[in-house]
Amino acid sequence: MADYLWWKHGVIYQIYPRSFQDSNGDGIGDLQGVIERLDYLNDGTEQSLGIDAIWFSPTFPSPMADFGYDVSDYEDVHPDFGDLATMDRLIAEAHKRGIRVILDFVPNHSSSQHPWFLESRSSQESSRRDWYIWRDAKPEGSPPNNWIAAFGGPAWEWDQPTQQYYLHSFLKEQPDLNWRNPQVEERMHEVLRFWMRRGVDGFRIDVMDRVVKDPELRDNPPQTNPRYRALAQTAMQVHQYDQNWPDIIDVVRGIRKVVDEFPERMTVGEVGGPPEQIVKYYGTDGHDGLHLAFNFPFVRVRQRHWTAEHMRRVVDAFEGALTPGAWPNHVFGNHDVGRFVSRVNDDGRGQERARVAALLLLTLRGTPFIYYGEEIGMEDGDVPEELLQDPARFFAPGRDPERTPMQWTRSGDFTSGTPWLPYSNLRCNVADEMQDPKSLLALYRRLIWFRRGSNALRFGEYKPLDNLPPSVFAYTRTDGDERLLTVLNFANEHVRFALPDGIRIVEMVIGTHGELPTAEEIPLAGNEGRLLRLS
Ligand code: NOJ
Ligand code: CA
Repeated sequence: MADYLWWKHGVIYQIYPRSFQDSNGDGIGDLQGVIERLDYLNDGTEQSLGIDAIWFSPTFPSPMADFGYDVSDYEDVHPDFGDLATMDRLIAEAHKRGIRVILDFVPNHSSSQHPWFLESRSSQESSRRDWYIWRDAKPEGSPPNNWIAAFGGPAWEWDQPTQQYYLHSFLKEQPDLNWRNPQVEERMHEVLRFWMRRGVDGFRIDVMDRVVKDPELRDNPPQTNPRYRALAQTAMQVHQYDQNWPDIIDVVRGIRKVVDEFPERMTVGEVGGPPEQIVKYYGTDGHDGLHLAFNFPFVRVRQRHWTAEHMRRVVDAFEGALTPGAWPNHVFGNHDVGRFVSRVNDDGRGQERARVAALLLLTLRGTPFIYYGEEIGMEDGDVPEELLQDPARFFAPGRDPERTPMQWTRSGDFTSGTPWLPYSNLRCNVADEMQDPKSLLALYRRLIWFRRGSNALRFGEYKPLDNLPPSVFAYTRTDGDERLLTVLNFANEHVRFALPDGIRIVEMVIGTHGELPTAEEIPLAGNEGRLLRLS
């Protein structure tokens, strides 16, 4: 059917570089460490996880005010992680194993220590003044508008020496670049080319939805966002003028053009809003915008959302909003949200649910994203107050719990030194789960390798079934003669039901509870899922 494209039909694995593998004992993960662990990710055999690409959270020089999302040189590697030569080796070693490399492109803001900003800040007459967003104070001295920064407080910082405010949508150490200045746009395009020439296969684009704002910088509406529930102050505001501004699509198109100068490269953007808003970033029929825009609702799933109805609604809303050429994607976790297992663990059944989530993630239509450690069921770390690291910590306890070191063995084995964050529960670890055919890791491996050989799962049509018990979400995936059925029970109790007419099961392919017999009538235990072959 469809031509194979790695970013559409493969599995993407996110690595938080500080936390995957340390190679020199300083307690901080690094690129050499990743190289040493590549065989775990894909050595070409079913012993390995079998992923197709790695997305690395930022690896660039940075004062680490936001752990790399404050870049001070877009075209180098942070010494904690290695150097350009290590990155080149990593790219080569990954490619040898058929693994593509996606870097994190942070276009909205640089570090306040980036030479561009230092120059911009040096005087109002600086030739780079307009590379960032500077404005006079209001007559009474207050900031130019009422925008709230994502990490709280006003989005404007007063610069005493040059008597103006600069805009920072995140920390004050992360000044917003001015993409309305063509020099900035051109220079940032060069950054993309720099990495693609070195063999990088794609970019995850940070806060794509804020890269340009209302040119008049008008106040956001004064009313509190009616959907405001979170602790985060920024969520109080309706971001009418500083997020999803209409001409942002022109910036996206510009980036796409550059990426298209190189064969088989891709972009995946971080954007917010309802599905109808998100799909706009794919451009016209998915051809001139982002290749993928994150479909985020699963990263917000908590136990109360763990219902067949909710999960189906999320899938169908995105499927329904996509234009014909645009491709879906699914993601359960990342470095900004609590670990999936911990989010659905109020009654202690988080690990069971992780198995159902794996079956869902890897049998839906669309690119699956796996956050490192998700495949072994890593849980939120319990990081004591005095060891917390995340600067955006008014979200107490911040984002450290989901950034703890990868758990390779019962004693961790992420570093020979002291890890930069303590380990989470080491009961889940690669070494033990490798030995255990019933482990979550074994389930992930089987699903990923099965998916690799299944056109129905990679390309096939998705069709949800109706008239099932309320706790069941089931859908078929079909490509030609290959017909598969996924059935998932979201309740804790078991359920038994007959399949709709015309559906005949041939065999059970993979189940969360092991190899159970197949029958016309499906009995599903609590939190059980099955992938079945149909005639
Ligand atoms: C989104 C990233 O995922 C997050 O970790 C970061 O703090 C902000 N963007 C700012 O770059
Ligand atoms: Ca290290």
